[in-house]
Amino acid sequence: MNLSDVLAAHPEMKYLMFGGKGGLGKTTFSAAAAYHLAKQGRKVLVFSVDPQASLSDIFQRDIFGKGAVEIMPNLFAQEIDADRRIHGFQDDIRKKIKDRYGFDKVPDEIESYIAAASSEPAMEESAIFDAVVDIVVEGGFDYYIYDLVPLGHALYYLSMSSIYDQWINKVTELRSEMQKYDRVAAKLRSQEKTEEDEILTELEDIRRRINLSSSIFTDTKKTGFFFVVTPEEMIILDTKKAEGLFAKFGVPIAGFVVNRVIPERLLSEGIPDYLRHRIESQRAPLARIDETFKDRVVARVPEFERDITGMEMIARVSEQLFGAA
Ligand SMILES: Nc1ncnc2c1ncn2[C@@H]1O[C@H](COP(=O)(O)OP(=O)(O)OP(=O)(O)O)[C@@H](O)[C@H]1O
Ligand SMILES: [Mg+2]
Repeated sequence: MNLSDVLAAHPEMKYLMFGGKGGLGKTTFSAAAAYHLAKQGRKVLVFSVDPQASLSDIFQRDIFGKGAVEIMPNLFAQEIDADRRIHGFQDDIRKKIKDRYGFDKVPDEIESYIAAASSEPAMEESAIFDAVVDIVVEGGFDYYIYDLVPLGHALYYLSMSSIYDQWINKVTELRSEMQKYDRVAAKLRSQEKTEEDEILTELEDIRRRINLSSSIFTDTKKTGFFFVVTPEEMIILDTKKAEGLFAKFGVPIAGFVVNRVIPERLLSEGIPDYLRHRIESQRAPLARIDETFKDRVVARVPEFERDITGMEMIARVSEQLFGAA
């Protein structure tokens, strides 16, 4: 099956992701897939959860932190500004503290705590996570294409969601338990709503959001997770390993896209030895890819003569990505 067949066979598949090691072509294929689907009349949002976002580069437009920007009819792209979101979190916390304790201004000690917490790397991840949930909850698109971060980070992201979930389960359980007693006490003091109620509601809200975003990753029907590989032994080994790890987190792989295949037909065009050797050295890894991933290889994309930026190049890649496998 080629990529078009996979999508045609799964009409409910609306979240697409291209994963893989750094620099293999995730952003390129995210953009190319978005282009193809938009041309077919589907409304597509391709968005980046990468602090080093590069959708602006490939579309040759500065879209950072501007929400969903229309690139062409039906094609929208978005780069999430994690920093701005973190500032939003901080403002929320400040407001809550001021409201709850009736301060005009957040005390300095608490300010410095807020600043320290915000510089944690996990904070950036959480902010991105949160933004993704917002995008997905808001709806309005036929397809959502995640321009993913390199493998290690994607795994971190997944593991974080399952750990958060366990943690929140535990805390929620404890809090519900406590709430029973608290309610009795509150009744005695004739209070309407306890503080525990509010915290519990907030935790449940966080859990709902996390479940939603991790359920997207693990939902085979709605999500197509494709791995990008290149014809190199090390990359093939790493990809096999990664597939195993993803399976542990319950993320099934919908297919593999092979990138940077130097076309064999060049051999008949009187090319220099250098290039001939490069083509020959891709043969064994290409055969290994076929034997390892078999019919799950959904596309082979050639090495182009230049980088993939701008709509013309994106269109060329999309033809290859959705053409015959
Ligand atoms: N088939 C191809 N032919 C020529 N250049 C390509 C091809 N595929 C990708 N590139 C180029 O390789 C570079 C890396 O591609 P891309 O940015 O899509 O990778 P990535 O997996 O998103 O990287 P990162 O892990 O840094 O996000 C880019 O400059 C892109 O234009
Ligand atoms: Mg990228």
